[in-house]
Amino acid sequence: MMSVKKKRKKSLNSNPSSPTDTNIDPQNLPVHVAVIMDGNGRWAKKRLLNRIKGHEKGSETVRTVVRTCREIGIRVLTLYAFSTENWRRPQSEIAALMALLKKFLISERKEMLDNNIRLNAIGQVERLPEDVRRELHRSMKLTEKNDGMILNLALSYGGRAEIVKAIQEIARDIKSGGLDADSITPDLISKHLYTGTMPDPDLLIRTSGEMRISNFLLWQIAYTEICVTDTLWPDFSKEELLRILKNYQERERRFGKVDT
Ligand code: FPP
Repeated sequence: MMSVKKKRKKSLNSNPSSPTDTNIDPQNLPVHVAVIMDGNGRWAKKRLLNRIKGHEKGSETVRTVVRTCREIGIRVLTLYAFSTENWRRPQSEIAALMALLKKFLISERKEMLDNNIRLNAIGQVERLPEDVRRELHRSMKLTEKNDGMILNLALSYGGRAEIVKAIQEIARDIKSGGLDADSITPDLISKHLYTGTMPDPDLLIRTSGEMRISNFLLWQIAYTEICVTDTLWPDFSKEELLRILKNYQERERRFGKVDT
């Protein structure tokens, strides 16, 4: 693997508790890390357990990853927790996932407040059960002033639906006369996505070895570095995350340009 230092503006890392136990360069961290958390079902199947046990163990990994990202100074962490396609799963599994989500929102509230984490949701949250929505909005409201890290939970999220929503909004603005078609730029489209003015992900991690994007952040990952690990999400650890970040720092990002 090439080990050329990236030419990149200074990282936005402002966390004083920068990594001390690794050789990760705190000035060269990905600003935005996105994760496709996959493999909960296979983890359970391998142990002859119900798939829901895999999701339960997967929730513990979510806690570890959120904590680690905050500790090392990642500014935005986006987790694919529930896709628009996941509504097609058996009702019992959907109910278990929603219960886990609700539990997470309640149990992690203090940790988010103590650690200056702002919770945000991307996706069709209006489709979530009312009790989950209530806890979600409560956590979002309570943490809205936090500026240490944004934790984006992708919930009932689909990349195509997100782009369709953006186009509909822009079309309405054109129809009302407030916008000229020639003013449509990549920046304008980005602003109409759920991620709004957030930076695009620098790094996308997918667990469980599948080489797919699965309708995740389709617009935003145009130049994102991708890392696929065979590890199943419930087995994903702090150590592996740090190894992936180290690997990211050894990559050369050219954004379509050539080296000069
Ligand atoms: C993919 O595994 C994972 C999901 C569909 C949901 C992710 C949910 C969690 C990690 C737990 C709850 C979330 C939070 C934020 C507390 P899969 O079921 O598709 O696994 P498989 O491909 O092995 O069947």
